[in-house]
Amino acid sequence: MGIAAAGGLLACPHCGGDLELGSATARCARGHSFDIARQGYLNLLAGPQPGNADTAAMVAARGRVLGSGAFDRVLGLVAHHSGPARRVLEVGAGTGDYLRRSLGDNPDARGLAVDVSVPAARMAARADGRIASVVADVWSGLPVRDHCVDTVLCVFAPRNLVEFARVLVPAGRLLVLTPNPGHLAVLRERYGLLSIHPDKQERLLAAASEFFDLRTTSRIRTRVELTPALAADVIGMGPNAFHDPELPGAPVADHLDATLRVFEPVSGTPGIPDPPAALRD
Ligand SMILES: C[S@@+](CC[C@H](N)C(=O)[O-])C[C@H]1O[C@@H](n2cnc3c(N)ncnc32)[C@H](O)[C@@H]1O
Ligand SMILES: [Zn+2]
Repeated sequence: MGIAAAGGLLACPHCGGDLELGSATARCARGHSFDIARQGYLNLLAGPQPGNADTAAMVAARGRVLGSGAFDRVLGLVAHHSGPARRVLEVGAGTGDYLRRSLGDNPDARGLAVDVSVPAARMAARADGRIASVVADVWSGLPVRDHCVDTVLCVFAPRNLVEFARVLVPAGRLLVLTPNPGHLAVLRERYGLLSIHPDKQERLLAAASEFFDLRTTSRIRTRVELTPALAADVIGMGPNAFHDPELPGAPVADHLDATLRVFEPVSGTPGIPDPPAALRD
């Protein structure tokens, strides 16, 4: 199915009109048109991808780390809380693994993976036939129609809360997974990697309260044993990859430490348009 999985969900990044999918292009009623790449993803970026988009090497490293099983408990936690969702949007989707797991085994579920990185979009397009993969910058507004997805996932990724509130159905849910200061702390300290701001969680809650009510909070803290190759991939898959750290020569015992928060949209949020009539009851 591929990009067709986004049928009825996409909006034109230029005019906001509905984007209809053909076999080779996506087009709005005003004639704005976008080619569907041979690899199955749709690039809706206005220009070239920004310099901080994940590179092909970072995405490949992330794929190996998630494929190793080291993050399975985190993947399982996100999937468990995404509920019986039918339309799931993941922002900063990377490889598409979290999205795929969240669709469960429901053949009617549809996933929309959005990432600013072309290599990530390529990989997410291959993750599952039920996933449509789109290149877009979450800070330029999501190319997604108002109130059309049940669940938004934001896992270690940038949060545009206004946009998340706009695209969710009124009874939808937003899942945000953020790292705690103990997350991969051994690797961070030993290899001089970027640290996690201790106020990160508080800042999220303060910013979200305007648009969302917090429903549940689940913290996961689990030990991981990383071979030198896997530890190098964990370093290589993150923003640290831009800083060229010295790589590990021996296995590393570390912890994953992250918090998942489930939010629901506040009803009648100012500035958020009313949902289409079909979604009101
Ligand atoms: C730390 S990775 C997380 C990927 C995936 N959620 C996971 O946990 O495996 C962050 C992802 O967000 C993407 N990203 C960064 N800035 C973005 C933006 N402005 N809009 C959309 N995606 C962005 C990156 O390309 C990268 O794939
Ligand atoms: Zn248009």
